[in-house]
Amino acid sequence: MKQLLWCALFIAHCLCKLELVVEVFRHGARSPMNITYPTSFGANWEIGGGQLTSSGERQHYLLGLKRRNKYIYDEGFLPNNYSPGTIYAESTDYNRTSMSAYAHLLGMYPLENRENFQIMLPNGTFTVHHPIPVHMRGDDQGVLNGHNTDYCHASQVIEQESRNKANEEFTNSHSIQQMIKEVNEKLGDAKYVNFTDIENAVDSYYSLYYNNKSHSIQMSDYFVSKMDHYLWLRMNHMIHRDDFGVRIASHSFFGILNSLISHRTGLNNSIPETNVTNSIPKEALYYIFSGHDNTIVAILAGLGLKTEGFPEYGASITIELHKEDGKYYLIFLYNDKYLNVNNICSAYEHKCNPVLILNFLKSRMLTQSYQEVCDHFKRKAEEALKQDSENFWILIKVLFFIILIVFVVVGCAYWTYRKNRPRTGREILEQEMERFDREFQFDSHRPEII
Ligand SMILES: *[C@@H]1O[C@H](CO)[C@@H](O)[C@H](O)[C@H]1NC(C)=O
Ligand SMILES: *[C@@H]1O[C@H](CO)[C@@H](O)[C@H](O)[C@H]1NC(C)=O
Ligand SMILES: *[C@@H]1O[C@H](CO)[C@@H](O)[C@H](O)[C@H]1NC(C)=O
Ligand SMILES: *[C@@H]1O[C@H](CO)[C@@H](O)[C@H](O)[C@H]1NC(C)=O
Ligand SMILES: *[C@@H]1O[C@H](CO)[C@@H](O)[C@H](O)[C@H]1NC(C)=O
Ligand SMILES: *[C@@H]1O[C@H](CO)[C@@H](O)[C@H](O)[C@H]1NC(C)=O
Ligand SMILES: *[C@@H]1O[C@H](CO)[C@@H](O)[C@H](O)[C@H]1NC(C)=O
Repeated sequence: MKQLLWCALFIAHCLCKLELVVEVFRHGARSPMNITYPTSFGANWEIGGGQLTSSGERQHYLLGLKRRNKYIYDEGFLPNNYSPGTIYAESTDYNRTSMSAYAHLLGMYPLENRENFQIMLPNGTFTVHHPIPVHMRGDDQGVLNGHNTDYCHASQVIEQESRNKANEEFTNSHSIQQMIKEVNEKLGDAKYVNFTDIENAVDSYYSLYYNNKSHSIQMSDYFVSKMDHYLWLRMNHMIHRDDFGVRIASHSFFGILNSLISHRTGLNNSIPETNVTNSIPKEALYYIFSGHDNTIVAILAGLGLKTEGFPEYGASITIELHKEDGKYYLIFLYNDKYLNVNNICSAYEHKCNPVLILNFLKSRMLTQSYQEVCDHFKRKAEEALKQDSENFWILIKVLFFIILIVFVVVGCAYWTYRKNRPRTGREILEQEMERFDREFQFDSHRPEII
């Protein structure tokens, strides 16, 4: 009986095959974005601002090792030694994200004994390493940047609105007031008044805390306990506030996901290929996308999901495509916990029907291209600007007209006044002389009036 069970399990195992894995993660622990005094809290960051720390490198190396255990040792999905073409890795063009991707890949394919790339260790023995390429694109297509305010005018507008609205909504809450008060007291810099004012300070202290970095200014346990909540509020507010913003922030990535899944399953919900989807090889087994906190929040928001807390350093979303008895299903994971996308996935096994998922992705995407939507906003802004300048010229014309009328009226009044006022003797004489000239055509002989 027991053997039969094992046999059944073995057969079940064999019939179920992993076909494709797409992993998106946030970079590992980094230094604060702003390391200047006083928001540095007295820490000295030699590596500069916004850079991956050694803790961050280690985080992704360990996460990569975890993937190695699952996808190479347990599932036998990826080859034991790296084989070119099996992995496609892409990162945003930042030091911290590209370094996270390298560290992650080093965890998946660590230094080991292969006849590839010989590295001499300090004890004189050799090891080998096969570097795995990490691609970077100028992210003008918003693939991994959530709201890309550098390229997308719509995102700029949304970001500014969200900043103002967050200030209105959260500034007066008890915990935020406490945090603002403490930042002002501890930094001796009483200039922080609203929610977004303390963004840099919270980001800085969060970095210090998670990197266990020494610093001279200590914040209270209360402050530390609220940092995650603060960053979560800020991020969710920015991304989730309106559905249009969510679509912009997740559109390009969903295009990629849609293209990879339809290519692999043969299911096609007729979303056209774009320059972005065409730029990605379709035959790899494992796709890695190295991005940011807003990348994670945007993708989850696009899927109609919200994280419980702020997406910590190294937070990851994994999407697996499996084939079982000739049928496909998808599994969505956030930090290795199952997700139920739009109630499509089964409660017990967490399997999601790919046709329903593809249709859902399609329904969540923009109906125009990313570029068109961003430019549309830009055009609108430019039109508004043009309208403003047209209005300006109309105003100038109206003013000119008013001035002209005033001029004419004043001129007429002056003329009438001149005409009606009593004339001087000299004027009478001049006019008489003119009349005389006209009547007798005498002008050359007109005597000078003295
Ligand atoms: C960084 O922080 C300093 C001090 O808090 C501030 O003066 C400066 O404007 C900040 N820089 C940026 C780019 O936010
Ligand atoms: C990236 O890191 C290098 C040092 O490795 C540094 O010189 C450079 O300023 C960093 N670039 C950015 C944009 O942070
Ligand atoms: C040399 O160092 C490596 C890595 O630390 C270790 O795995 C290996 O066993 C060492 N070899 C000898 C001969 O000590
Ligand atoms: C928040 O404070 C900053 C500076 O203190 C200010 O520029 C900004 O207008 C404030 N925002 C709101 C919505 O009050
Ligand atoms: C944090 O740093 C302190 C001193 O800088 C050290 O004693 C402690 O072990 C560190 N903790 C961790 C978890 O690394
Ligand atoms: C799906 O269909 C669209 C339009 O019919 C086509 O442009 C696209 O290339 C197809 N995608 C795949 C992966 O077959
Ligand atoms: C897509 O690529 C083609 C050829 O490189 C180029 O002409 C076109 O402008 C690109 N489209 C977009 C939207 O970037």
